[in-house]
Amino acid sequence: MDDLRTKYLEAISSAADEAALEDLRVQAVGKKGEVALQMRELGKMTPEERQVMGPKLNALKDEINAALAAKKSALADAALDERLRTEWLDVTLPSRPRRQGTIHPVSQVTEEVTTILADMGFTVAEGPQIETDWYNFDALNIPAEHPTRTEMDTFYMHRKEGDNRVPHVLRTHTSPVQIRAMQAHGAPIRVIAPGRVYRADYDQTHTPMFHQIEGLAIDRDISMANLKWTLEEFFSAFFEIDGIKTRFRASHFPFTEPSAEVDIQCSWVDGQLRIGEGDDWMEVLGSGMVHPKVLQAGNIDPDQWQGFAFGMGIDRLAMLKYGIPDLRAFFDSDLRWLRHYGFSALDVPSLVSGLSR
Ligand code: PHE
Repeated sequence: MDDLRTKYLEAISSAADEAALEDLRVQAVGKKGEVALQMRELGKMTPEERQVMGPKLNALKDEINAALAAKKSALADAALDERLRTEWLDVTLPSRPRRQGTIHPVSQVTEEVTTILADMGFTVAEGPQIETDWYNFDALNIPAEHPTRTEMDTFYMHRKEGDNRVPHVLRTHTSPVQIRAMQAHGAPIRVIAPGRVYRADYDQTHTPMFHQIEGLAIDRDISMANLKWTLEEFFSAFFEIDGIKTRFRASHFPFTEPSAEVDIQCSWVDGQLRIGEGDDWMEVLGSGMVHPKVLQAGNIDPDQWQGFAFGMGIDRLAMLKYGIPDLRAFFDSDLRWLRHYGFSALDVPSLVSGLSR
């Protein structure tokens, strides 16, 4: 018994880890361990011998179990100390000197524009970027042979031969969301639809993917005057300049009648664009009174309801407001560009605290 005690107490005190301890536990005090074997010997002893040896063996078993438990908690303490040592962190170090991520100008301007229009009572609507050609064209009074279909440099979705599901396109404008919103909500309705649109075009002011925001307001007696007021309020709030004037030029879109392209007042001083002053004009959007056929496609009765729609380029608004010269750089993911033109994630645009800082 003394040999067993010495053997196991030494082995336990020098065990390297929990697995080694467990092995020792099985060998010493497990069901078939050495102490159990000794217990079995008790049967062969005289009652007197047994009375002496029994308690001794039990005491040995208790002693080994106690040593195992003590070693186990010592190992756990050591492991915790080691972890605390390696995961030590100096919380008094200064934070990184500059912000790492920024909000992209497109996200910022989308947020600014929706904030302003939401305040006027427009809610945000959405539609798919892969659109059927019915929503993108037919429903907007652009029949198959209409020249606009080619003018828009549409991306058509490839179809396998014999596949006669409805044809899809990458939407060329946000106007299909007008139809989807009218179908979903009926009249009266006031929605805006920001999102990505696609046209096969690439130069300093055109990229194959860009962003538009659509506006649609339908009620019993909405007129061009309401459109003009809405846009002038919008531009003054957006450019943060009071009383920006707009100029409506007669134009043509198949989905509006009458149609107008809208310019905002500006001037060029030393090659620098100034918005809201001077006597030059800068084209910013397309608009008009929603065509009766478009209302019908949206299941709205054109004898009961009328309204305006407008669509403008978000990227273009961002270029104008923040003086960004080349649209292509918007989508290059160049970190230096993003840091220069990006916005702090903590400055959420709001009409109360300011749109931009
Ligand atoms: N969808 C037109 C375009 O992309 C813009 C527009 C929208 C014009 C709504 C009139 C009314 O050019």
